[in-house]
Amino acid sequence: MHSFLTLPRTGLFSSLILSVQFSHHVLAASGLSYNGLSITPAMGWDTYNAYGLDYNETTIQDNAELLVNLGFRDLGYKVVIFDDAMTEKNRSANGTLIENSSKFPSGLKNLVDQSVHSNGLQFGVYSSAGRFTCGGYPGSLGYEAADAAWWASLGADYLKYDNCYNEGNSGTPKLSEHRYAVMSNALNSTGRSITYSLCNWGDDKPWEWASTIANSARMSGDIQDYFDRPATSCPCGPDEYYCQLPGYGCSIINILGKASHITSKNQPGYWNDLDMLEVGNGGMTYDEYKTHFSMWAAIKSPLIMGNKLYELSPEDYGILTNPAIVALNQDPEGSSIQRRLVEQTDDKDRWGVGEVQLWSGSLYGGDQVVAFINAGKSSRTISYDLVEVFGGVRNNEQAMQAWELYDLWGNETVIPAVSAAMVLNGTVGIEAVDEGRWYYNASETSWADGLARNETLLLGTPVGRVEAMGMLSASVPGHGIAMWRLRRAGGAAKRKRDEL
Ligand code: GAL
Repeated sequence: MHSFLTLPRTGLFSSLILSVQFSHHVLAASGLSYNGLSITPAMGWDTYNAYGLDYNETTIQDNAELLVNLGFRDLGYKVVIFDDAMTEKNRSANGTLIENSSKFPSGLKNLVDQSVHSNGLQFGVYSSAGRFTCGGYPGSLGYEAADAAWWASLGADYLKYDNCYNEGNSGTPKLSEHRYAVMSNALNSTGRSITYSLCNWGDDKPWEWASTIANSARMSGDIQDYFDRPATSCPCGPDEYYCQLPGYGCSIINILGKASHITSKNQPGYWNDLDMLEVGNGGMTYDEYKTHFSMWAAIKSPLIMGNKLYELSPEDYGILTNPAIVALNQDPEGSSIQRRLVEQTDDKDRWGVGEVQLWSGSLYGGDQVVAFINAGKSSRTISYDLVEVFGGVRNNEQAMQAWELYDLWGNETVIPAVSAAMVLNGTVGIEAVDEGRWYYNASETSWADGLARNETLLLGTPVGRVEAMGMLSASVPGHGIAMWRLRRAGGAAKRKRDEL
């Protein structure tokens, strides 16, 4: 029995062992999801960050079309979330929600059928487990079954469920769990597969209870389009494990710090949601957006864009479509990258932020991901040896091993700006300009299959190797990131996921 693992992994017999292990792994992974959904984090697009409550039928049509034409859908960005303000301000006399016909003159059902579902996209709705939504529209507390049935009749595939006006039904994990479980049951009763995404901003620590009733939960107050600028509206600092006043206006560095304490709570079917992406909204530099996107992907946050797709710059487009980074997010193992070290430097910016952060974690097939973040304001060379990279444990098996290095932001894996500009202005289609060098179609070959087949686009650019007990080193721009996939030199080996 125990001799299985010591057999050499060559020939037919060993490939049988590997395939048995793989299918067992996938079965075990899907079994952790309470409703069988979101085995990898959700991906899509949401109205709120770029439009606030001011969106309508045209907004949805325009952005849905670009999700398809720019290749986002086939990378996996599928759900289109109508975030708040989708209904009239009052319920009907018999208590049902009324769609907002001045915003959606074609009717919600027609709009969803024609612009969302017929394009192979998914329909995301929003409400609050309170009397009102955060925008002041009717909330669903006490109306769970009726509202879930209405959304299902419109074809909803996803619910973002907020926390405003909860009438005091919070303050302990049990109170929050009970309130959110009512909607979980209502969604299940519709008979439709609806991904359930809590938006209670980390209130009452959803990472401790929500995995048995939901697919993800926000863990912080709302994001803002700044790398590290503090805001009094987001009073808890990045070192705080639990925040009693989540607020809004939280920066990338702030949310990353809070997320670092709870990365081990992620698992297939349940993900900490770090809030929607700001890439494309103009508040950060190219390097800052790369850091933001890379870390959201590697932590396994849902990747929900919150931008105007028709205003994307070639650089933003290159970031959001980098297959080597999206592959981290959609990795079948479902382990989050973990923070190993934070070192303060003298290179602080005006907000007093200037540390270096070292993160690493395990990926499918025994690969590892390593990230160096330079939160200082100017470029610096960062070096860590493999013992530090793998968590600082001496005699650690991973540090005593040589690794091949793949740069996840190597030039060959990112669309050149000139090609991106042509795709964005509609001169050429993505397939025409691509020639297989930067664009990955996950509708044709899933991320899991692509990784199993060692698709080069998903691995990154080979940049040499690091020897056993050796050193990883990179020059990292201010507010920037260096990130690699590491693969055991001499062949990939299986290893179980990080312990929860
Ligand atoms: C907030 C939520 C945002 C957005 C907004 C809509 O509470 O965190 O992501 O959904 O409400 O009003």
